[in-house]
Parts: sequence; C-alpha cells; structure tokens
Amino acid sequence: MPNPNPIGIFDSGVGGISVLKEIRRLLPAEELLYFADSAHCPYGVKPQEEIRRRIIKIADFLIARKAKMLVSACNTASIAGLDFLRQFFQVPIVGMEPAVKPAASMTRNGKVGVLATGVTVTGERFNSLLERFANGIEVYKVTCPGLVEQVEMGLLDDPATEKMLHRYLEPLIANSVDTVVLGCTHYPFLRPLVEKIMGPSVKVIDTGCAVAKRVKQVLQEAELQGEAHENGTETFFTSADPVQVGRVINYLWGHPVAKTHHVEL
Ligand code: SIN
Repeated sequence: MPNPNPIGIFDSGVGGISVLKEIRRLLPAEELLYFADSAHCPYGVKPQEEIRRRIIKIADFLIARKAKMLVSACNTASIAGLDFLRQFFQVPIVGMEPAVKPAASMTRNGKVGVLATGVTVTGERFNSLLERFANGIEVYKVTCPGLVEQVEMGLLDDPATEKMLHRYLEPLIANSVDTVVLGCTHYPFLRPLVEKIMGPSVKVIDTGCAVAKRVKQVLQEAELQGEAHENGTETFFTSADPVQVGRVINYLWGHPVAKTHHVEL
C-alpha cells in the first residue's frame, strides 16, 4: 500500500534546499515538507545542546504534520544531533555528513580541503569519518564564519561573498589541495564561486545527491513510498520572516513557491 504522507526535511535555514532539490529530482511523486530555521541560523556557532533543542522542536512539528521520515539537511545539525534525535522518534531519519570518504578516494595528491562550520569539524562524528576514511590523507579544515549568512540573504555572487571565499580558500590553494569538500548544505549554492577561485584542476564535491539516494533507498526498505504519480508538492515553513525568507527560497528553488508559512517554535 502506498504511503501518501510527506517526508520532513529541515535545516538551520535555506541551505538544505540544495538537498531538497536532489530529493525532488529522485522522488518526483513524494510530498515534501521543508523547515528553514532561519530565525536561529546559523547553527554552526551554537552549543550542541541548543542545536539539539531546536531540532527536537522541528522534528516534533514535522511529525505532527504526519512526516513518515525525517531528513536533517544540515551538516551541523546532523553532526551535533542525529544520534540524539534517533532516540526520540520512531520514523527513519537520514542525515548529512561531509564527503570525506569520496574525497579520500578522488584525491590524486592526497590533499583535501573541507569547508564546514566549527561544530561540524570539531564533532565526534566528523573525527570518526577522518579516522575511518582519511588515513594517509592530509585534510585541511576551514571554518567559514559569515558564509551561511550570505546564502541566507541570497547573496550568491555578491563581491563581499567572493572576497570572503577568497580568504577562506587561500590556505587550500597555498597547500595545493586538489579536492574541496563542501561540508555545509549552504555551500553548494556557492559552488560556481568556489570552482572559479580554485581553478579547473580542483574537484569540488558535496553529499546532496548521495543523501537523496539514501532517502530513496530507506523509503523502499521501510516500504514507505508514496503514490507513483509525478506531481508531488513542496510546502515551506520558516521560523523567521516568511516574506523575506520566501523571497530567498524562490530564488534558490529556481521558481516561485506557493507560499512560505511562518511557524513559531
Ligand atoms: C549553519 O547553520 O551554521 C550551517 C548549516 C550546515 O552545517 O549545513
């Protein structure tokens, strides 16, 4: 029996739309709920406990709206709270992790750069990724204060964004990394700038597509797939100003969405 309930996807803000796009591409029929916690963005500078409190509230909200599965489309929230979230909810939960494993197998000179938040690169889950997959690889971690905020404002090719990126990418260029991991779901929206600054010989990767594949696989395994028609819809929620966030969502999503709803959590 098809399960018509939605998949609940959340992020600290609008960055998870980079993952939502991949999920929509692979699962055209599913109903998708997206929660942008923009009033509390960025998560990357917050204590773990605060991030956990936020994602519990968001998960509660999405489950109350009948979410059959949750996707943490935020690297910081996944590193800080995925195991914690799984203790409280029965539905399957899929999260993000920086693409360390693919980067380690792609690099030709053994030098990889990871752009992510402070919470992500100091988290236990991230260290365990390095231990398991990056043996013998030099990994340069760069935290990028301010970049998430630029994406939240939709300033993808703004001169200030480019200037910030130059500063953050400089040590990676100086150390000749040949592979750059975008370890935050906001950053894929800055991929053209990162590629321009790093040059054509450097590979720039993220895990949006892999996570969408995992979502599809988990849905199948748990027999939670929706009807097989091809017109699933997306419903957007935000904890911040819905007009302002809605404008950026329209821009990042690529076409106007029906409405962005405000939710106080
Ligand atoms: C943040 O909210 O600081 C970043 C979100 C992410 O890590 O994907």
